[in-house]
Amino acid sequence: MEMKFKTLTGFIIEKQADYPQASGELSRLLSDIGIAAKFVNREINQAGLGEVMGFAGEVNVQGEEQKKLDIYANEQFIAALKSGGECCAIGSEENENIIILENDISKHGKYVVAIDPLDGSSNIESNVSIGTLFSIYRRRTVRGPATLEDFLQPGRNLVASGYVIYGSSTMMVYTTGYGVNGFTLDPSVGIFILSHPDMKYPGTGSIYSINEANYFSFPEGVRQYIRYCQEDDLETFRPYSTRYIGSMVADFHRNLIRGGIFIYPGTRKNKKGKLRLIYESNPVAFLAEQAGGRASDGFRRILDIQPTTLHERSPLFIGPNNMVKKAEEFMNLYSSDFKIE
Ligand code: AHG
Ligand code: MN
Ligand code: MN
Repeated sequence: MEMKFKTLTGFIIEKQADYPQASGELSRLLSDIGIAAKFVNREINQAGLGEVMGFAGEVNVQGEEQKKLDIYANEQFIAALKSGGECCAIGSEENENIIILENDISKHGKYVVAIDPLDGSSNIESNVSIGTLFSIYRRRTVRGPATLEDFLQPGRNLVASGYVIYGSSTMMVYTTGYGVNGFTLDPSVGIFILSHPDMKYPGTGSIYSINEANYFSFPEGVRQYIRYCQEDDLETFRPYSTRYIGSMVADFHRNLIRGGIFIYPGTRKNKKGKLRLIYESNPVAFLAEQAGGRASDGFRRILDIQPTTLHERSPLFIGPNNMVKKAEEFMNLYSSDFKIE
């Protein structure tokens, strides 16, 4: 019987064939991420059994303490990237410094990968969608072990980026700069199947996602934009609806499919907001642009920001082009209100 569906692995191999000069390393890297995602998915699915089965905090038969899911996910992704050999260093939200996997570029990986192994981890206990984010860069240094410099590249240098969402179904969504494709995990056979080819934002949207509890410490431009979202205007489908999960991956994913803007702005206390540039804002910014959308810090394109440290933060305004542009208009109008340098 003819197979009517495309698997993640099949799709990656097919795309690689379009580029005869490609060595296959990026393909293997993406496959490895897909495999690690399946292990993490299995663990997340059983998270609720922790209490009943005595998982968390217990010592297992190997004498190791059961890991919290943040740590577990981190270890799974590191292990997958290590065993593949295409990646020479990893930067992770869970590790202060980069993790060097290999010393010799002539023998090993030409890529570095930055990850947020578990995004939205405070939502685990409440059975709400969580995710994983990844950014893949070509290393800049040419010999010896990878260095921090290999990670401090603006997002426009990304070779690939994506996320895994562990939700009502588990999906992997990624881009290599030729559009965005989404794959849904069929848990019965453990295979990611192409379910969302060439994902694009709907032309416009009517959802806004922001933690409005911080309203009084937002910049004036954001406050004014929120008011704009709440006004009545039939032509522009306002008032919009508020949707905010508190897992950026899940908020971004819903907004990509339904049409909506996600904002995590700076606040009076934290001028650069909360999200990390290299492994949270950049991967979704690349996806958003590839899906016909826009991503900025309110003033500048996210992908043009030159990072100076591994864990630095940036405000994030992301979604359909016209929605983000409108929010930027308000930011510019009130730019004297703590503009972020
Ligand atoms: P993480 O779980 O990786 O630390 O990230 C959580 C982030 C992001 O997913 C989400 O958008 C944001 O925190 C929510 O923050 P607030 O609770 O301040 O709204
Ligand atoms: Mn996160
Ligand atoms: Mn995280």
